[in-house]
Amino acid sequence: CGIVGYIGSEQAKEILLKGLERLEYRGYDSAGIALMDANGVKVYKEKGRIEALRGVVADDAVGATGIGHTRWATHGVPSHANAHPHQSESGRFTLVHNGVIENYQELKTEHLMDVGMTSDTDTEIIVQIVEQFTKQGLEAEEAFRKTLGLLKGSFALALLDNETPGRILVAKQKSPLLVGLGEHGNVVASDAMATLALTDQYVEIMDGEVVVLTENAAHISALDGTPVSREPYTAELDAADIEKGTYPHFMLKEIDEQPLVMRRIIQQYKDESGKLKVDEGVRQAVKAADRLYIIACGTSWHAGLVGKQFLETIAGVPTEVHIASEFSYNMPLLSERPLFVFISQSGETADCRSVLVDVKQLGHPTLTITNSPGSTLSREADHTLLLHAGPEIAVASTKAYTAQIAVLSILSVDVANGKGRTLTFDPLQELAIVANAMEVLCAQKDDYEQIARDYLSETRNAFFIGRAVDYYVVMEAALKLKEISYIQAEGFAGGELKHGTIALIEDGTPVFGLITQEHVAGHLRGNLQEVAARGANTCAIVSHDQARPGDQHVLPEVHPHFSPLASVIPFQLIAYYAALHRGCDVDKPRNLAKSVTVE
Ligand code: G6P
Repeated sequence: CGIVGYIGSEQAKEILLKGLERLEYRGYDSAGIALMDANGVKVYKEKGRIEALRGVVADDAVGATGIGHTRWATHGVPSHANAHPHQSESGRFTLVHNGVIENYQELKTEHLMDVGMTSDTDTEIIVQIVEQFTKQGLEAEEAFRKTLGLLKGSFALALLDNETPGRILVAKQKSPLLVGLGEHGNVVASDAMATLALTDQYVEIMDGEVVVLTENAAHISALDGTPVSREPYTAELDAADIEKGTYPHFMLKEIDEQPLVMRRIIQQYKDESGKLKVDEGVRQAVKAADRLYIIACGTSWHAGLVGKQFLETIAGVPTEVHIASEFSYNMPLLSERPLFVFISQSGETADCRSVLVDVKQLGHPTLTITNSPGSTLSREADHTLLLHAGPEIAVASTKAYTAQIAVLSILSVDVANGKGRTLTFDPLQELAIVANAMEVLCAQKDDYEQIARDYLSETRNAFFIGRAVDYYVVMEAALKLKEISYIQAEGFAGGELKHGTIALIEDGTPVFGLITQEHVAGHLRGNLQEVAARGANTCAIVSHDQARPGDQHVLPEVHPHFSPLASVIPFQLIAYYAALHRGCDVDKPRNLAKSVTVE
């Protein structure tokens, strides 16, 4: 799900297609572009990958203005008809849209009873309504503004009008969208990454604003037409960061980057005296709170669970961790002085944003931990801590997960220092040891490839068990495996598997056990015995200090507090090789999107 648009002096075709390729990492199941020249607009779209779209775009397709789109299906199956761009009945207007229009049925009934629809999408109603309003006498921009006023839900929109060719009309609500100002034309994109080749100068668009984008200018105004002026900022993304280099997949590159990311984080979070520290505002916010509420989804939620351990054991701050999409209707009784901590790699996840909006309305302070400076969650929260992991392109998160855990550990250490708590370890030194341990693990790829072959090439399911903090890591291990290899996988608390799920264990069922914590190691070994006795094919991954003679997969030594940072790496590699050997599309797994900007 992504948008890219261009208006300028060059041919738009390649700019749009390359831009869409840059957005591929976000996940999609169809794609399309519209090109506009003196003869009007031509639309090309196709189900499947950008490669398939390239196959249907005419060789002689021309136009120095255009819009493009990758779609991740919400309303209507992935198909040619449902792919964007969508056009109005007469063909005058052409639109791309990200997001979900919640009241599209009502709008359709009210405004479009006499209009023949060509798709099942909520998007088509927008472009049809704009045309209906122009038929009633409104000028195109007025019709666009009036339509925007009717829409409920989330949207990022770019609209072409045959009758006013020198411009693209742009608007957003909840969904991300940026305008970029280049030397040879201007762009609009869901993510600066799509158009870095053209410019690094970007202007944020806020909810409820409209932009009239021309070759030389971006006129921003509020919905009522009041002009808005805003300075561009420089996007600090290095184009080299988003190349695969010699790696076959982004995921493998990103797994290997983890030691480097750890070292970068240590550098970024050190003060002049060499002590780990976070921004003063964040420190004060945590100090003022009597309880932290971590809100996140997917892998980030798993990082939050590990973070809770740090915050409670190292810093002594009571912490709860919640799945964002459940929080609004399952809101716990809040403490007197809560601080909400949003963990999101992309900073764009709609489920998180919805909670952010709610808790801000209640007047509670907020902190976002993200990899994306300038993202929606970062802009809208009171404070931000950055992950400094560099762009993560593979849909399955690896280096952002470990970066989240590292930053949460630093936050915990900083709070503990602020409270005068005595730490029994030197955090800087321990994190440096973690970086080295990660390097050792990344060099053992062959071993993990072999495990993937031995345990996962034929199976339809797999189980992962751990206790205490290892339980949180195995939940992430299971998620990685199912995301990219489509093997049904579950992460369980070691003691819980026997209360029901053990019924699924058959001859040869793979069960992975993670053992890094002394106080639970014996029990977990017992749990592995229980399943082995019922035919399971067990594989124990054991920390250095818990290893016993005969253990085959022993992790390099790290402090037990920081073990999740090292112990997850074998599982990331096992998932990678399992997916590879099963012929799956590792970087772009089916049905998944990297930034899920719909609730
Ligand atoms: C999507 C991705 C997951 C990711 C989750 C949260 O569902 O497929 O891999 O963990 O979003 O993303 P965030 O950007 O908020 O960390």
